Amino acid sequence: MTVAVVTLKNTENQQDLIITRPKSGLCLQGSLRVPGDKSISHRALMLGGLAQGETIIEGLLLGEDPRSTASCFRQMGADISPLNTEQVIVKGIGLGQLQEPPDILNAGNSGTTMRLMLGLLASHPGRFFTVTGDSSLRTRPMSRVVKPLQQMGAKIWGRKEASLAPLAIQGSVLQPIRYYSPIASAQVKSCVLLAGLMIEGKTTVTEPALSRDHSERMLRAFGAKLSIDPETNSVTIEGMPTLFGQKVVVPGDISSAAFWLVAGTIVPDSELLIENVGVNPTRTGVLEALSMMGADIQLENQRLVAGEPVADLRVRHGQLKGCEIAGDLIPRLIDEIPILAVAAVFAQGKTVIRDAAELRVKESDRLAVMASQLNRMGAKVQELPDGLEITGGTPLQSNEVDSYTDHRIAMSMAIAALSATGTTTIHGAQAAAVSYPDFTTTLQRLCEL
Ligand code: S3P
Repeated sequence: MTVAVVTLKNTENQQDLIITRPKSGLCLQGSLRVPGDKSISHRALMLGGLAQGETIIEGLLLGEDPRSTASCFRQMGADISPLNTEQVIVKGIGLGQLQEPPDILNAGNSGTTMRLMLGLLASHPGRFFTVTGDSSLRTRPMSRVVKPLQQMGAKIWGRKEASLAPLAIQGSVLQPIRYYSPIASAQVKSCVLLAGLMIEGKTTVTEPALSRDHSERMLRAFGAKLSIDPETNSVTIEGMPTLFGQKVVVPGDISSAAFWLVAGTIVPDSELLIENVGVNPTRTGVLEALSMMGADIQLENQRLVAGEPVADLRVRHGQLKGCEIAGDLIPRLIDEIPILAVAAVFAQGKTVIRDAAELRVKESDRLAVMASQLNRMGAKVQELPDGLEITGGTPLQSNEVDSYTDHRIAMSMAIAALSATGTTTIHGAQAAAVSYPDFTTTLQRLCEL
């Protein structure tokens, strides 16, 4: 069998990923596991830090984002053992007991760390906090969480009316509210719910479409009282519960599995089994979109692990066709749009992605970046104000492309490069470590099997 050559080159401050596709014969075969779910990893560290007693986390993602969460919570007094995938032990300090950190809290590249943490900091009376992040996070909108927190009485200062980090927070006693979020965002929902933990009475958040519900599931498991109204996408939390440490088993991240689902679909003669993937229905939009496109993906060995649905995903090569991806499906596949755009390039006909303007304020402007980088390889991708229009079927040619220091762009472009002629260089490939530190090693292994 012919193999693709996958190498990493260190340049000044970054890494280049260089991928040469063989002229013929590449196929991806075998089974693999993807690292732990990023969203669940953050929440396990945070709730573990707030709970009484020990939380044991198995399968934690060792990416840079959860490391940022762990480091912030350590600075505020949580005792978190060295991070590893086997077992992390968090000795919580109890609800309301976060300590004032002696230095600035740094959320790195992680929007989830910053936005969820803000709900907790704002509701800890008598402590002063400052939070910042890397150059990408410092441009991302924080007003979406600052506004509801201010309605609860939070005191937050920062640039552009406290919409940009660095932010300064004077923790105070907050009031319960009923918040109607203008966007379907699990980060907004979770921020309000976490603030609600520390508020006497009931705090409700309603969103226009259902976003991922990991916070709701885990808060309940730790002992918080929540009521959920699926008709209106509303969640109500009763404040001041006692949270008890739990065992959390983190499933593989479907957002990371998505790269292999698309690779297995577009590379001829491939068959991959991705084991132990979280298939929470609020996250499986990518499976529905790929199935609309005609992909051959089967869920095997479906089970419930520590309150989250899990399955093994088998994918086989198949011809894709274009489809429309829009509406309530978008929040359920929000992080998979870059790799779905790659799938669409290999599909027959047109794929239209709409209602996805949120992508413009992720780690990069993912609509603009995916359009420009795929077009550099000869694809036909047109940017829409809230999405992409992709005309599939044009073979990709190798070129130099850039991740814009966005992990999901780096990995999506690597999968595109696997099916392009010649040698493609992806600048800034180190960004993958945010959510998938072993991505290149796994790619090398699959290409050499
Ligand atoms: C996340 C929610 C999503 C997602 C992000 C992780 C979370 O963001 O894009 O990668 O863990 O809550 P939004 O909720 O802002 O859409």
